[in-house]
Amino acid sequence: MQPKSLLISLLSASCVGAQSLTSVLQGNSDLSTLTSTLQKFPSLLQSLGSASNITILAPTNEAFNALFATPAGMAAQNDDGLLQAVLQYHVINGTYPASSIPSSGAFVPTLLTNSSYTNVTGGQRVEGISQNGNVTFFSGGKATSNVTQADVKFDGGIIHVINAVLTVPANITSTAQASGLSTLASALTQTNLLNTVNVLPDITVFAPTNQAFAAINSTIAMLSTQQLASVLEYHVINGTVAYSTTLMDGETVPTLNGATVKITLANGGVKVNQATVTIADVLVANGVVHVIDG
Ligand SMILES: *[C@@H]1O[C@H](CO)[C@@H](O)[C@H](O)[C@H]1NC(C)=O
Ligand SMILES: *[C@@H]1O[C@H](CO)[C@@H](O)[C@H](O)[C@H]1NC(C)=O
Ligand SMILES: *[C@@H]1O[C@H](CO)[C@@H](O)[C@H](O)[C@H]1NC(C)=O
Ligand SMILES: *[C@@H]1O[C@H](CO)[C@@H](O)[C@H](O)[C@H]1NC(C)=O
Ligand SMILES: *[C@@H]1O[C@H](CO)[C@@H](O)[C@H](O)[C@H]1NC(C)=O
Ligand SMILES: *[C@@H]1O[C@H](CO)[C@@H](O)[C@H](O)[C@H]1NC(C)=O
Ligand SMILES: *[C@@H]1O[C@H](CO)[C@@H](O)[C@H](O)[C@H]1NC(C)=O
Ligand SMILES: *[C@@H]1O[C@H](CO)[C@@H](O)[C@H](O)[C@H]1NC(C)=O
Ligand SMILES: *[C@@H]1O[C@H](CO)[C@@H](O)[C@H](O)[C@H]1NC(C)=O
Repeated sequence: MQPKSLLISLLSASCVGAQSLTSVLQGNSDLSTLTSTLQKFPSLLQSLGSASNITILAPTNEAFNALFATPAGMAAQNDDGLLQAVLQYHVINGTYPASSIPSSGAFVPTLLTNSSYTNVTGGQRVEGISQNGNVTFFSGGKATSNVTQADVKFDGGIIHVINAVLTVPANITSTAQASGLSTLASALTQTNLLNTVNVLPDITVFAPTNQAFAAINSTIAMLSTQQLASVLEYHVINGTVAYSTTLMDGETVPTLNGATVKITLANGGVKVNQATVTIADVLVANGVVHVIDG
C-alpha cells in the first residue's frame, strides 16, 4: 500500500460511519484532483477530516484542469505555499447549506488566514449568492464559481461541488491593474501611499474610475503631492472591511484622512457622498474595493 492511500485509510478508519470527509471525497470521481491535491498537505487534510462545522467548496477535476492550464495555475502547481492557501480558501468556517445563502449575498469567512496571502481579520471572505435556486460564489477579481452539486453531507459539515476554482483575492496593486483602475494606482504610487494601502489590514477602498479622475484632471494638476495624498486618503476606510451587505443607509464613516464620508442606499444601489458605486465588493487581499464614478 502506498503511503498516501495508507494515510487515507487511517483517516477513514478513525472516523465513525461511512460519512468521513475522505470517504465522501473518494466516493466522488469528479473530485479526485481535489483529493490528490489535499493529500500533498497531510496536516491540512487531517485537520479538515477532524473538523466540525465547516463547508468545503470542492472544485471538480475539470475546474482544476482549467486552472492548471493557465500561467497562474501552472505557477501554483509548483508553489506549495500558494497551493495550500488556495485549498484553505475553499474551506468556510461554519456550516452553510445552499438554503442558508441569501439572494442579497453573504460574505463568509474561510480558513485562509496566512498573512502572506491575506490581511483580513478572521479569515479571507468569499461571497455566496443564491439566484433562483442556484448558488454562485464570488472570489478575487469577481471570479464566479457555480455550485453544481449542493449539500453533500459529511460528518464535519457540508460540501458544495463547484465548477471553477476560487481565485485568492489579490493585493490592491494587482487588482487595480486588472480592473482598469490605472489612474488610481499611479496616483497612489505618486503619493507613496501604495505600499501603505496594500498591506494595511482590514480596509475598504472607494476606487474612482479612470474617467472619474479624468473629469477632475485640471483640479488634480493644481494639487501638491500632499494635497493629492489627502484626497486619496479620503477614499480609504482603515480598520473596517465594509461589504455592500454591511453598509447602512445614512451612516457616516471616518476615512484615513480624518474626514467622514456619507453612505446612502437607494434602489438597491450604494452612494458614497455624491458618487455612485458602479462595481461593488471586489475582494482584495486586505479587504474590499468598491468602484465609484466620481
Ligand atoms: C504562509 O505562507 C507562506 C508562503 O507560502 C509559507 O511559507 C508559510 O509556511 C505559510 N504559513 C503557514 C502557517 O501555513
Ligand atoms: C471559526 O469561527 C469561530 C467563531 O465563529 C472562531 O472562534 C474559530 O476560531 C474559527 N475557526 C477557525 C479555524 O478559523
Ligand atoms: C458553526 O459556525 C458558525 C459560524 O462560525 C457559528 O455561528 C455556529 O455557532 C457554529 N455552530 C456550531 C454547532 O458549532
Ligand atoms: C499583510 O501585511 C503584512 C505586513 O503586516 C505584509 O508583509 C504582507 O505582505 C501583507 N499581505 C498581503 C497579502 O498583502
Ligand atoms: C441553474 O443552473 C443550471 C445548471 O448549472 C442552469 O441550467 C440553470 O439555467 C440555472 N438556473 C438559473 C435560474 O439560473
Ligand atoms: C456561473 O453562472 C453565471 C450565471 O449563470 C454565469 O454568468 C457564469 O459565467 C458562471 N460561471 C462559471 C464559472 O460557470
Ligand atoms: C502585489 O501582488 C503582486 C502579485 O502577486 C506582487 O508581485 C507584488 O509584490 C505585490 N505588492 C505588494 C506591495 O505586496
Ligand atoms: C490630464 O490631462 C493632461 C492633458 O490633457 C494629460 O497629459 C494628463 O495625462 C491627464 N492626467 C490624468 C490624470 O488624466
Ligand atoms: C489604522 O488603524 C489602526 C488601528 O486602529 C492604527 O493602529 C493605524 O495607525 C491606522 N493606520 C493609519 C495609516 O492610519
